[in-house]
This record gives sequence, structure tokens and C-alpha cells, in this order.
Amino acid sequence: MTVPRGSEAKFENLPVFPSSCKKSLNWWPFVAGGLFGRGRGWYTWGVTHLPPGPPAVKNPVSLLLFASRVGRDPIGFQRGRFERYGDIYTSRVNQLLTLVTRHPDHIQQLLVTDGDSYLKPELGIGAAELRRVLGNGLLSSNGDFWRQQRRQVQPAFGASHLRAYAETMVAYTLERVHRWRPGSVIDVKSEMMGLTLSVVGKVLMGKDVRSQQSEVEAAMIAFRRSFGGVSSVLPRWMPHPARRREARVLAQMRALMDGFIDDHASGRSDDDECLLHVLARGLGSDGFMSREQLRDEALTLFFAGHETTSHALSWTLSLLAQNPEARSKLGREVSSVLGGRLASFDDLPALEYTGQVLSEGMRLYPPAHTVLREAGRDTTLGGYDVPKGSHVVASIFHAQRDARWHPAPLAFRPERFAPEAAKTLRPGSYVPFGAGTRVCIGKRFALMEATLILATLAQHATLDLVDPRGPAANASITLAPVELSMRVGPAFASKPLSALAG
Ligand code: HEM
Repeated sequence: MTVPRGSEAKFENLPVFPSSCKKSLNWWPFVAGGLFGRGRGWYTWGVTHLPPGPPAVKNPVSLLLFASRVGRDPIGFQRGRFERYGDIYTSRVNQLLTLVTRHPDHIQQLLVTDGDSYLKPELGIGAAELRRVLGNGLLSSNGDFWRQQRRQVQPAFGASHLRAYAETMVAYTLERVHRWRPGSVIDVKSEMMGLTLSVVGKVLMGKDVRSQQSEVEAAMIAFRRSFGGVSSVLPRWMPHPARRREARVLAQMRALMDGFIDDHASGRSDDDECLLHVLARGLGSDGFMSREQLRDEALTLFFAGHETTSHALSWTLSLLAQNPEARSKLGREVSSVLGGRLASFDDLPALEYTGQVLSEGMRLYPPAHTVLREAGRDTTLGGYDVPKGSHVVASIFHAQRDARWHPAPLAFRPERFAPEAAKTLRPGSYVPFGAGTRVCIGKRFALMEATLILATLAQHATLDLVDPRGPAANASITLAPVELSMRVGPAFASKPLSALAG
């Protein structure tokens, strides 16, 4: 289907999911939580008031059919359920009871006002796999342990450190865009992944991983598969060829992190601004995390810190190509703010529209499309019972594309995030970084990085879609474009980078 350029009315015809979602086994762990999970489930006595939902999925054949349907198109599957049952429905898969919601009030309650009643999931295979791979890092830990870890890691994301990271972000972007030849077609998804990976390597770990990029990328792909692949739903005792590869990759990634930590702890690295250096300084001091824990955190940040930002950029670039007016406006802002010089940390407040463009890109394509919690005690959500041990899935994707909270939801309108308009957003209706105490620790980092990258790209090149329909989406742990080929044209900022700055 051809996506009309710049026409809002016709844009409404765009299906909620632009083209068939690539079949993805990566969704399986979420289903597997139900297949093999130990949730307290719907047998719980005294649970009288649950949202409506389909009959329980129990026998092995229906379990597999269910898994395959969800796996084929998880977001479309949820949409069908919402259309049938309303804003919140109950899913009963084997032993596990899950409430799935798209309502902002529920999301706000889940993450913010009643956030203390919930945990990062501890039951189910998805949760076990995450811990096996990332250890007890910030993404998966809970309770006092998580609180202590967050307190120790948080300072490395403070403004003074961010300022130091900005220069590297711009320099690495520049180095990459200079390789793009006008008229050539580039794989934007892979370019953005490579760029954000090298930025994370440098500013978080203090390492220039550009020369090892293909190895690190290959490791990261296998690494993602290790808790998304089919082998992750098989019992641990069952042999599977993917297991050996996973074990090898996991060992490689841990060795990589250990090497980084050694360099910082022993003073071999002179990059004293990077996040790992800041953290490694604390090793051995009273109350500070252990070395092994530092490795888990480093691995978590390396993993969480590049893929989401990369997808946000890829989606935004494809949306800009489909909305030339917004692209021109962005170009004008970049020219007037930067006037042909390199972007810096101090330019961020003035790059207001650039930030709005990114916010709108993440509204339409939230890289983290769902948030999952487990009830740590019996509680309620939107007036429904949520028994201890059951799961709640909040669909960020569906909340952010709902016409009740975002008029003309499929239209690309960055102005929704202009300061006055943004104040009217309903709490819980726009949460690409989550909310509450577990809000993304890298939110400011990611926004800064994506804004600097977008402004620098504007000074160098215009990217146009080879296939004007835009990319198909693959929803697994993150929402990724399946493939994004774009043609390189001249800079769209009227004042491109001066030769001196380049
Ligand atoms: C556009 C980019 C990003 C998006 C959309 C994003 C999204 C999210 C979301 C939705 C959560 C909350 C998950 C939940 O509540 O279950 C989260 C948590 C987290 N993110 Fe991000 N993230 C991004 C970039 C980053 C970066 C750059 C880093 C690190 C450098 C990072 C590290 C983390 C960590 C460690 C957590 C867990 C925090 C905790 O529970 O204390 N993220 N992210």
C-alpha cells in the first residue's frame, strides 16, 4: 500500500500495523510464561471480579495454536481482543492469569499510583530467561536490591556526565554520515544500530568498539535470540543446538564486560568520564555493589542502551520521509539553531521541534511496546481484582494510538508535543519510557542522543524511502522495522555543516 505523503486525512487509512507483522518466535517467552509459568492463576478463591475475556487456554493443542497466533502478530492479536472485550481483558493461559490493558488510567495506576503493589515478573519462563541472560541487573531486579542498585547507577546519568557524552555522540554520527554517498541506498536500520551501539560502547564502557562492530553486533543478535528464541521455551535439561551457541555468546558478552571492567578498575583506561569508569571507582568501597553485580549492570546497560534508541531513530526517519513538511520544518530549526556548526549539549533546549519529532515518532512506534508486571500482593486495577502472582500487560502501543487520547492518532503531528499541548496529555496515555519509580534510567540519555543524531543527520543528508509504504514492523521484545532501505540525498537543513566543522 502506498502511504500518501503529508496528507492527514488519507493517512488515517494506514492500518494500525503498517504491514503484516513478521512472524516472530521472540514473542514466545511471554506466552511461555503461561505455558510453563507458575502464576497463582484464576483458580484463586475469592477472585470474583475480573475483566471479560476469552475462555482459558488449557490443552496442549490450543496452547500451541494460541502461541502461534500471538507469535505471528502480537500487537494485532491484542487489538482484536481489545475490540472484542474493551479496554481491559483477562487472558487465562494454563495456570497464568493475565490482565491486558490499554487504558491510560490503568497504566498510570499500574506504573505510578499503585506501582508498589507490582514487581518485575519473577514467575514464568520469560522472567527466568531474562535473569539467566542479564543476571540481576536493573531491568529485572526487585525490592530493596533494585532500589540500592538504582541509587548507585543513577548518578552516572546526571547532567554533568551527559554533557560529556554529547560530544562523542555527534562525532560518531558525523563519522558515519560521511561514509554515505549521495544517491546510494543504505540500510538505515543497521546504520542506526551500528551508530547507537558504538555510542554506548564509548560513552558507557569507554571503549571504541567501531573496529569490532561486526563481532559485537553478531554477538548482540545471538544474545537477543538467547532469550527470545525457541530454545528459551524448552526446559533447560532438553538439548537444543541453539543452546550451545547461546552459552558461547553469553560467555563472550560476559568476558567483554569483564575486560571493560578490568581496564577501568586497574586504571588501564584513561576515559574517566564514561559510565563504567564512574561505577568501577566504587568497587571495593563499603556498601557498593560486587564486581559480578557490576558486570550484570554493565551488560544490562549495554543491551538496553542501544537497540531502543536505534529503533526510535529508524522509525522517525521513515516518518519524516513520509511527511516532507515536518522534515522541512525540522531542517529550518536545525539551520537557525546551529547555523552550520556542530550540535552540542547546550543546543538541546533550542532544538525544540527536533525533540517533538522524536516524541511523535515514539508515540506511533514505541520501541518498548508493552510493559509487563507481576502483582506482588492482591490488589485491584480499574476496579478489577488482580490476585498476587498474576500478570498485568500494559500496551503502550495501543494506548498511544487511541483516538480518545490522541486525536487523528495515525497522523504524524509533532506539534502535539509543543509545550502547551503536551500539558494536556492524559497521564498514562504517552509512556514510551514507562513511568513511576521504574521509569527508564536512560530516558534523558536517549532523548539527548536521538536529538543530537537527528540534528546532525539533517545537516548532512536527506533520507528517502526506497519503498514508499514504509517498513513493516516486527514486534518482539522491542518494536523494530523489519528492513529499512533509504536513498541518500542532499542535506535537508538549508545550512548544512560547514566544511570546517565537517
Ligand atoms: C528510545 C530509547 C529508549 C526507550 C524507548 C526505553 C524504554 C524503556 C522502558 C519503557 C522502560 C521501563 C520498562 C518497565 O517499566 O518495565 C525502560 C527501562 C530501562 N531502560 Fe530504557 N529505553 C530507552 C533507552 C535506554 C537507554 C539509552 C538506556 C541506558 C543507557 C536504558 C536503560 C534502561 C534500564 C536500565 C531500565 C530499567 C530501569 C529500572 O527498572 O530501574 N534505556 N526503558
